[in-house]
Amino acid sequence: MPKVLIATEKPFAADAVQKIKAELEKAGYEYSFLENYTDKSELHNALADAEAVIIRSDIMDEEAFNSAPKLKIVVRAGAGYDNIDLKAATAHNVVAMNTPGQNSNAVAELAIGMMIYIARNKFNGKSGTELSGKTLTLYGFGWVARYVAKIAKGIGMDVYAYDPYLQDDVMLKEGVKPLHSVEDVFKLGDYISLHIPATEETKKCVNWNLLSLVKEDAVLVNTARKEIIDEEALLKVFAEKKKFRYVSDVAPDNSAEILELYPDRVFFTPKKMGAQTSEANTNAGIAAAKQIIAFFEKGDTTYKVN
Ligand code: 3PG
Repeated sequence: MPKVLIATEKPFAADAVQKIKAELEKAGYEYSFLENYTDKSELHNALADAEAVIIRSDIMDEEAFNSAPKLKIVVRAGAGYDNIDLKAATAHNVVAMNTPGQNSNAVAELAIGMMIYIARNKFNGKSGTELSGKTLTLYGFGWVARYVAKIAKGIGMDVYAYDPYLQDDVMLKEGVKPLHSVEDVFKLGDYISLHIPATEETKKCVNWNLLSLVKEDAVLVNTARKEIIDEEALLKVFAEKKKFRYVSDVAPDNSAEILELYPDRVFFTPKKMGAQTSEANTNAGIAAAKQIIAFFEKGDTTYKVN
């Protein structure tokens, strides 16, 4: 029976781990867990006899694939697969998958939570503002953005979205107003929430051309990836728009500098934790296990990304 490695530098919740184990045991699969590892060599050693691996943000690069001679499938329990070298996966005849939608509600709740936290001055007791009646613009309209829209509409926000890969009816069906230019996302939003993947095309795409357009007191929300931000432009917008604020689950490389300069106008989670809920871990972990079983039993390659 196939051997499955679950390699999570940032572990799943304990109850999610039990459920993933039960799923694999039901299918008669062998498994082992590598959690909280501190060096990539530990991952590479663990990959030596794995035929399948479930990961989170763990790095599957050329070196990792070279250490995994028996590997047939890697499933990223989550949405973003920028941590997998897809070319290397293909070159090693490994199928790469993600589990779209499974952890999205958790990330959306964190995005909204950070908006409330900054609107209320980090709960310091001083009079803040409400989200109700404000305009929220979403850059990208995938799973997380749709959950954000649903919660934001419940709060009473006016929600717009821009997604160059989608037709208007997808947004309209969710009660969200479609935008037709990325500039409008940055011009219109009181809150601007980023929901695009990190790819060659999107790296540093949130640049000065876009950031220069934001309202004086706009709040930028990033639960996506730090790589999509042009960090020099971010510093510039803080300097030029005196009430601009930034909340992020994926702190920029220059976070220490920004925190020192603008302590009241930023919030960064200490460690990326958008998907850190028991529910998200369970949903994504079980989906990953099921996808591996369906792949070996039926050749099912739904959710293949390479
Ligand atoms: C994702 O892409 O699914 C999220 O960013 C969550 O990532 P994580 O599993 O590393 O927390």
